[in-house]
Amino acid sequence: MNEIKPTPKYTPSVWLLGALPQLQKNPLAVMDRAFREFGEVVEVPVPRIRMFVVSQPALAEHILVTNIKNYSKDTRGYAMLKTVLGNGLVTSEGAFWKRQRRIAQPAFHREKIATFADTMVRLAREAACTWPTDRPFDFNREMMKVTLSIAAETLLSTDVTKDSEGVGRALTQALELMIWKITHPFTWPSWVPTQRNREFAAAKGELDGIVQSIIGRRRAGERHEDLLQMFVDTTDSETNESMTDEQLRDEVMTMFLAGHETTANALSWTFWLLGQSPEVWARLEREVTTVLGTRVATLADVPKLPYAAHVMKESMRLFPPVWTLGRRVVETETACGYTFPKGALVFVVPYLLHRNPQFWEAPLEFNPSRWENPEVPKHKAAYIPFSSGQRKCIGDAFANLEAALLLATFVQMKKITVLPGQQVVPVPVVTLRPSTQIQVTAVDRA
Ligand code: HEM
Repeated sequence: MNEIKPTPKYTPSVWLLGALPQLQKNPLAVMDRAFREFGEVVEVPVPRIRMFVVSQPALAEHILVTNIKNYSKDTRGYAMLKTVLGNGLVTSEGAFWKRQRRIAQPAFHREKIATFADTMVRLAREAACTWPTDRPFDFNREMMKVTLSIAAETLLSTDVTKDSEGVGRALTQALELMIWKITHPFTWPSWVPTQRNREFAAAKGELDGIVQSIIGRRRAGERHEDLLQMFVDTTDSETNESMTDEQLRDEVMTMFLAGHETTANALSWTFWLLGQSPEVWARLEREVTTVLGTRVATLADVPKLPYAAHVMKESMRLFPPVWTLGRRVVETETACGYTFPKGALVFVVPYLLHRNPQFWEAPLEFNPSRWENPEVPKHKAAYIPFSSGQRKCIGDAFANLEAALLLATFVQMKKITVLPGQQVVPVPVVTLRPSTQIQVTAVDRA
């Protein structure tokens, strides 16, 4: 029996504007309060549209997996992303998305990803050697740099530290402006020649040109062992078609954005949490030292570092880099007892699902050991840092491998201390970013 339940409404809200001013200021705070004070499914009043916040695993599963065809990505957020990423895997839908995913999928098979392990470790070691040893520095910035260099090398075989082609500079500039654009939705549309729009168009144009010339060289016969090569070489198993230059470019941009900032933030939050939990940090150091000694980490070490994997899982539970997933209801339906009208916006919120006390013991505690219990999580959709269903992250194995190897390598090489007295809270930009710099010191281990 599907009993229909009334959906609680978030209050207080401003006349005509509803909760819009609060949402614009801090959507994470609104959704967090909606869950704590009103429940697992809450309607948040906003002008002209119905909006729901979901933090119930069964309903999350319904929206993302069981009845995914009724929940589209036709939202303002994805439309903004589309203006900068084009029609890549994150933003496309329907038959086009399905075909692109079929072509891209083989490149992300575990054994293909495994070939990147040595590159990840080499770039992590090179990065750690550049960190200051005589003064504090911003850890998040360093994580962004290292994951960007790994993305550039594994996608395009380009070394951004040498950066002969200017990819690193053009990319950093374009990404910064892209994030600014996404986080300032009420600015002038792209065709109005404001200074920012002109800067963005120039940076994107330069980056497109660089990527286009790399693609051109591959078409002319140059070969590398990277993701782009796999995309160029693969044809669709059903239609036998391959990607056009434009599709390749959109996928490369998409992979850069989807792959580097998410992993960087996951690592930054991990070290932030370790800084608050000396016992966890000590146990992790013991595991890394026992397994690696002074040897350079390899792919074969990853399964021998189970506690490191639990540390990463637990940090992505508390601070999932993709903190919310917005969807548009295609046709009115009642699911798990709640009615969602056609056209409404539904936000499935990993940040809240991961902290729902019905599914997690001591949900706010950073306790990697909880993952030793095979019955955790209690519901499979109570933990979805990579989403779930057919739109699940294609790079999850890549991200898990990268995070495990970087965490182990940094702990092995450096004695890192998070400076005390810092106030760092999550800021919901495109990903869940730290509100300020995370100041650390890092000295070489003997
Ligand atoms: C810790 C790191 C990462 C996290 C937490 C993460 C999380 C996610 C999530 C939640 C989605 C679903 C987004 C949505 O529904 O709009 C997604 C999609 C995606 N991610 Fe990741 N991701 C990570 C790393 C990566 C990496 C390293 C890559 C590529 C190298 C990547 C590529 C993608 C792509 C292409 C999609 C779209 C997939 C599709 O819809 O077919 N991600 N990711």
